[in-house]
Amino acid sequence: MRHLLDIVDLTTEEIDELLDTADDIIANPDKYRDICKYKKLATLFFEPSTRTRLSFESAMLSLGGSVLGFSEASSSSASKGESVADTIRVVSCYSDIIAMRHPKEGAPLVASMKSAVPIINAGDGGHNHPTQTLTDLLTIRREKGRLHDLTVGFCGDLKFGRTVHSLISALSRYENINIVLISPDELKLPSYIKKDVLIKNGITYEQTTDLCAVMGKLDILYMTRVQQERFFNEADYIRLKDSYILDREKMEYAKKDMCILHPLPRVNEISTEIDDDPRACYFKQVANGKNVRMALIMKLLEVQA
Ligand code: NCD
Repeated sequence: MRHLLDIVDLTTEEIDELLDTADDIIANPDKYRDICKYKKLATLFFEPSTRTRLSFESAMLSLGGSVLGFSEASSSSASKGESVADTIRVVSCYSDIIAMRHPKEGAPLVASMKSAVPIINAGDGGHNHPTQTLTDLLTIRREKGRLHDLTVGFCGDLKFGRTVHSLISALSRYENINIVLISPDELKLPSYIKKDVLIKNGITYEQTTDLCAVMGKLDILYMTRVQQERFFNEADYIRLKDSYILDREKMEYAKKDMCILHPLPRVNEISTEIDDDPRACYFKQVANGKNVRMALIMKLLEVQA
């Protein structure tokens, strides 16, 4: 039985295969309509979500399966003090596969040790978010035609942004990737990721606080929200939340074919005046997320079209 807790649980070949399946799902959705008939997905969200949870549910429904679950810890037995381990033992009696989100780093790993069915990490605290990474990789590959030879800028909250951590880890496996880290000093990428991922894999990277200064060299700009819920102090959040706001003026510095990604939800970091710019890919990213989650559910349930 396989779980997906971290993007490193998948080999590069497996990632490429999942993206190929997602491309085929987009081209031939009818082929996949019934292949998870009678299978059940449980979505256990101990932390808020719109896209990720609904995207998993929509993915399973599009495969002909059904869904059950909860969308906040307060409506589950966690509010009575039940442990994650016990919740998972119970839910794995009711479902064939589980997608879970939890505010504590490592909770999906604990779950995987007790589960009788595959566990998918749909975000654990400030740690990891591997299915958002599959979404991001699919979007980059569909927009750029490749996952190698790219200069990728990450802007915003690189400290707490779990989607950033997982995507950097995945991209570092491909050839000739340059990473540009754009953040306020307080929200820099954690040093364990620089050391264990960037330096270890020989990835060239630079750090700056100035978005406009580096914009012209980027093929991809990955914008992120400042993660309010992970701050210890409200005053710091208020001071940092509007550090970067991408607007038309800043887009003047960008390449004509640069691609803007954002895992969403957006707060202020991308002005809505950019939404109709052909370089804005964040709503296409949402659609890609559902299709790649379909591919992942099929893989973990070992079903084929
Ligand atoms: C992200 C997350 O939950 O980490 N959202 C998502 O899953 N699309 C990003 C965020 O919340 O800022």
